[in-house]
Amino acid sequence: MSSKSRARTEQLEFRRCLGAFPTGVTVVTYDTPDGRRGATVNSFVSVSLDPALVLVSIGAGARARTGLEGAPFAVNILGAHQSDVAVHFAGRPSDALRVPWQAEASVPRLRECAAWLECLPWRSVEAGDHTLFIGEVVAFGHDPSAAPLIFHAGVFADKQSNPPHARRPSLAERLDRRRDFEIWSDAGVTSSAVPA
Ligand SMILES: Cc1cc2nc3c(=O)[nH]c(=O)nc-3n(C[C@H](O)[C@H](O)[C@H](O)COP(=O)(O)O)c2cc1C
Repeated sequence: MSSKSRARTEQLEFRRCLGAFPTGVTVVTYDTPDGRRGATVNSFVSVSLDPALVLVSIGAGARARTGLEGAPFAVNILGAHQSDVAVHFAGRPSDALRVPWQAEASVPRLRECAAWLECLPWRSVEAGDHTLFIGEVVAFGHDPSAAPLIFHAGVFADKQSNPPHARRPSLAERLDRRRDFEIWSDAGVTSSAVPA
């Protein structure tokens, strides 16, 4: 195996390893001289409460990398029913999709999401082949009844056979999990909490 293909395999393994961490899914939306744009992003992190700061990490190849420079943006946290929106803004646009743009928003943002945060640019930090865009949150809202879209191991939860939000586990199942946790804790994992 050439050193180039070994490096590629290692990077793929690294990505798969990172994919073991389940995340929500956001679309970061912003304005450009050519109109509203968005990019699907799961590297969304809350950073600070005072001031209210959040960050997204954007790869060098994404159009958002230049589009977000010095630009206000919105982070739209997608609902469980919005995997088509996620795919649309992940480089596979669909003509059939009516993008649910929010009318008359000061920063472009989406309707029907689980939550949204409108941000002013605060700092950006170069980090390897990504740029961390830190935004100061100036407005936000959320729908407490909305189930979030989950992404895990390269798959949206609504495409998995057993989506994590589909059903609350029974007490018996939760007690079983508790046993598992205790076994793991013997093996060095400290948590023994029963997951909700
Ligand atoms: C679930 C999911 C999460 C993603 N998260 C990120 C991310 O955090 N940062 C990033 O740069 N690209 C991420 N991408 C890839 C971008 O969505 C993709 O490169 C997109 O085409 C960028 O759009 P743009 O070139 O218009 O900016 C993600 C894709 C998917 C499907």
